[in-house]
Amino acid sequence: MPTPITVIPGDGIGPEVTDAVLRILNAAGADLEYDHQIAGVSALDTAKSPLPQETLDSIERNRVALKGPLTTPSGSGFRSINVAIRKEFDLFANVRPVHTIVPGGRYEDIDLVLIRENTEGLYVGVEHYIGMEGDPKAAAESVMIITRFGSERIVRFAFEYAKKNGRKRVTLAHKANILKYTQGLFLDVGKRLAGEYAGSVEFEDRIIDATAMYLVLDPYRFDVLVMENMFGDILSDLMAGLVGGLGFAPAGNIGQDHAVFEAVHGSAPDIAGQGVANPTSLLLSACLLLDHVGQSGVATRIRDSTFGVVRDGVARTRDMGGKSGTVEFTDAVVGRLEG
Ligand code: NAI
Ligand code: MG
Repeated sequence: MPTPITVIPGDGIGPEVTDAVLRILNAAGADLEYDHQIAGVSALDTAKSPLPQETLDSIERNRVALKGPLTTPSGSGFRSINVAIRKEFDLFANVRPVHTIVPGGRYEDIDLVLIRENTEGLYVGVEHYIGMEGDPKAAAESVMIITRFGSERIVRFAFEYAKKNGRKRVTLAHKANILKYTQGLFLDVGKRLAGEYAGSVEFEDRIIDATAMYLVLDPYRFDVLVMENMFGDILSDLMAGLVGGLGFAPAGNIGQDHAVFEAVHGSAPDIAGQGVANPTSLLLSACLLLDHVGQSGVATRIRDSTFGVVRDGVARTRDMGGKSGTVEFTDAVVGRLEG
């Protein structure tokens, strides 16, 4: 029985890279059945909603989804659909592996995983203005919310991820020296859980700013990193930069019962419809999906073929410094899988 998954092509370059990814999944023999659904600006015309109930029902039913980028209009308009999906299914762990693909960059052989808490911290959006002396915006306040429950489940997720994937060490990055309550609670939980994993996974904690410096100076000292929401947001982009940018950065949003896999990049309106988008980020996200549903063998074959195509320069898209279009690049990966 093939595993049913929800597929949402999304906006901008989404449909182009989704087509490419589905072709490669089929060529690799992935045992999946696609439940095609819509979301984003492109869903507004047909469904009158950027996040139709049918799409939510489909994710609820299948529990696994592959999602293209969704455009969020700045300023007015609807709120981020990506955030709405993460909230709806309580996808508390954002897993972002970074891996060197194109050699000759600033660093070679990077192989790191960042695990970001996806539901708490400053991003809960509890903020307001404080008026003083006739100025309604004299000050602004934002509340950082960290719970024992939220900290425990994300740190445990990081340890379990390390164990399952044969990784040696978890680094918890924090700012507990300054934010003694919120960051202190997160650190306390980490230290306590580390005891349970002693002997199988090493643990260290490090202040967030020093972590940023060491990631640039000597990224090889790290393995799996875990941190709260905003720190994870910032450092995951920094880490994507270590391997050549967002075009190679996959992500999985994982909850207790549901998981949504997506590229880290957005809908790239500047190049949409031109056939030049790099599908690698969504493709590597699909590989994480395959790992998740127990088809790691297929995922490994796709990764090997894709890395081979890029490494040998058989085909490279513009953002990799090449001249190939999306279809040409996809043909090359499919050719390697079938060859
Ligand atoms: P973006 O990631 O879409 O584009 C940034 C730059 O990277 C652009 O120059 C683009 O051409 C390039 N780029 C991105 N993906 C590429 C690919 N696969 N191949 C080649 N080049 C690529 O970020 P931007 O422009 O800030 O956001 C555009 C829209 O996407 C916004 O509405 C934003 O809200 C949304 N977005 C959605 C995300 C999601 O669905 N998870 C994540 C980030 C942004
Ligand atoms: Mg971000």
